[in-house]
Amino acid sequence: MAAKILVVDDDPNVQRLLQYTLKQEGYDVVVASDGAEGFRLWGAEEPDLILLDVMLPKLDGYQVATKIRTEEGSASHVPIIMLTAEREVEQKVRGLRAGADDYLIKPFHPAELLARIKSLLARFAPKDALLARPPLGRVLAFYGAKGGVGTTTIAINAAIALHRELGRKVCLVDGNLQFGDHRVFLDLGLDRKSIVDVVTAPSIDVDLVRQVVVKHDSGIDLLLAPPSPETAELVRPDHLPFIADQLRTLYDYTIIDIDKRLDDVNLGVFEAAETIFVVMTADLSCLKNVRLILETIEHLGYPAGKVELVLNRSNAFTGISVKNAEGALKRTIEHQVVNEYRGAISALNSGAPFMFTKADSSLGGSLLQFARSVDKPQPAAVTAATR
Ligand SMILES: Nc1ncnc2c1ncn2[C@@H]1O[C@H](COP(=O)(O)OP(=O)(O)O)[C@@H](O)[C@H]1O
Ligand SMILES: [Mg+2]
Repeated sequence: MAAKILVVDDDPNVQRLLQYTLKQEGYDVVVASDGAEGFRLWGAEEPDLILLDVMLPKLDGYQVATKIRTEEGSASHVPIIMLTAEREVEQKVRGLRAGADDYLIKPFHPAELLARIKSLLARFAPKDALLARPPLGRVLAFYGAKGGVGTTTIAINAAIALHRELGRKVCLVDGNLQFGDHRVFLDLGLDRKSIVDVVTAPSIDVDLVRQVVVKHDSGIDLLLAPPSPETAELVRPDHLPFIADQLRTLYDYTIIDIDKRLDDVNLGVFEAAETIFVVMTADLSCLKNVRLILETIEHLGYPAGKVELVLNRSNAFTGISVKNAEGALKRTIEHQVVNEYRGAISALNSGAPFMFTKADSSLGGSLLQFARSVDKPQPAAVTAATR
């Protein structure tokens, strides 16, 4: 949507010139010829920025600015540029005191005016103007073909990469209800809110979920696992899909980290997820499990494309090459993450994910590449965009 600019000036020539210049640039323009009308239109039109002449009939520019600042309170701030014919420093100071953010001395060059407008609009844009677009609402499951293959490591660091490197709004859910590791990986205590606070509430809605997520320093939000295995029983299999539906309305990505169990909780997550990333390493027991999980997915009636394979520690020597693994599975492995034992383990033990503190490491680079391919526009979105 084009930004709306209110021009308050009593000189018809200036009005015309400004209107022309601003419309050329694609702004919506509203014009007032005196201070009182300017003040009224500020309230009625809610402009994104005001160009305010100083010498005006009825109320002068300083008075208009002062009235606006008093009235709008601290919650909002419309940027004001004073247009002044006077060169005296004193006048500038008065203008800024009255609440102007910038001033221009007439006559000014249109390019100068436009540059000042752009910079003020950017400076005062509501913080979540960029987030005002609807969230992508994608729900992704990260499923370990067996314990210890790096599912949690990849889920956490992919979440951080999607947020910090690709600007997405991300919520990471620890779906390992009994033995969730996110508190350890992210250095958070048992006192933090968890999914138990959601499922024990009288009713679950989006506001409740919003209150229970924990903000991590990296900028992602977390829905933590229950603090103990006993409390995990409070989470029913239908809870996670329902919560995922709430999260979908708030975030670009909801990433759910789950282990290899094929129980009702995990099957619910499969159902909720758009894509299941099966994390594996190149060893026989993983290959066996991946084959089983691919069969299960097929039996459940999901399309084959719902699963994508992530080969972790892909360059570690196991005696089974990527080609061998693909041959054994009779399918391609979509993603690979490099092996970097020290980087991964020291990040784990310090509670600072490498994507947050060492994004430029080879492991960080590998995860970023993975996050980029996750974030590629989906086929449906591509056709919609090119239609
Ligand atoms: N790409 C990698 N390179 C080296 N070590 C890794 C890598 N990914 C994970 N690890 C290590 O593997 C161990 C298990 O990781 P974790 O994420 O807890 O696996 P899972 O969630 O599948 O049980 C951890 O010590 C972690 O540091
Ligand atoms: Mg794990």
